Amino acid sequence: MNIFGFSILNFTMSRRKIAAGNWKMNLNLQDGVHLVHQIVKASRDKRVDTLLGVPFPYLLEMARLSRYMDNVDIMAQNCSHFENGAHTGEVSASMLASLGIETVVIGHSERRADNNETNDILKLKVDLALANGLQIVFCCGESLKTRKAKKHISFVKNQIKESLFHLKKKDFDHIVIAYEPIWAIGTGETASPAQAQEMHREIRKYLKSKIQNKANDISILYGGSVKPTNAKELFGQKDIDGGLVGGASLKAETFVPIINSF
Ligand code: PGA
Repeated sequence: MNIFGFSILNFTMSRRKIAAGNWKMNLNLQDGVHLVHQIVKASRDKRVDTLLGVPFPYLLEMARLSRYMDNVDIMAQNCSHFENGAHTGEVSASMLASLGIETVVIGHSERRADNNETNDILKLKVDLALANGLQIVFCCGESLKTRKAKKHISFVKNQIKESLFHLKKKDFDHIVIAYEPIWAIGTGETASPAQAQEMHREIRKYLKSKIQNKANDISILYGGSVKPTNAKELFGQKDIDGGLVGGASLKAETFVPIINSF
């Protein structure tokens, strides 16, 4: 239960199937509210947790709306690495928690690139999110250059190590990983199911080295041009537990079929 007393999606329930939308800096409030209603109405499959990452100004309205939804939850796209104070324009993890928001995306490649968010900065965000009782969708993923140099697996492992491996085993109850190869984000180019599965398997193996069998309970999402036409095959891979979806999450016609792809 959160502060509003309504039921929550809970990562601790082990290896959930998750369809997460990431609206980024798109949609106005009215269109966003309409879209949420459409998604709630159309997606009744209780086996799938649907999460919507909406812009900061919409969070309170959406959190209120989500009181009446048992199949869709709202998440923030970011939080500050500062606890509070003189940081104009920033939004803290404790502010998110005070709105009744329960999940935050940390480490999206667009924020890493646009805002110079290093693995060390993300580590601070992770700590503050957990300290405020938030669940985390932690993003990782390599550039095309890194993949071409065949360093993609060690690169992603290092992102995970530097931002997450200081945590205690029980903290991983509150973490979902989203593998999003940068070259596949918003490009229309998707990692093949085999490429995605290979990385997801490596990530799970790497998590095992830190948290042993608990790694089997962690949901690992794929992101990067997920569409209704490729979702089923991607989500059908052994280590892929769902998707973090940008462009295709902006319309019910494309997002609902993705939710229904499991
Ligand atoms: P995309 O974005 O689905 O538009 O490629 C995914 C993401 O950035 O999370």
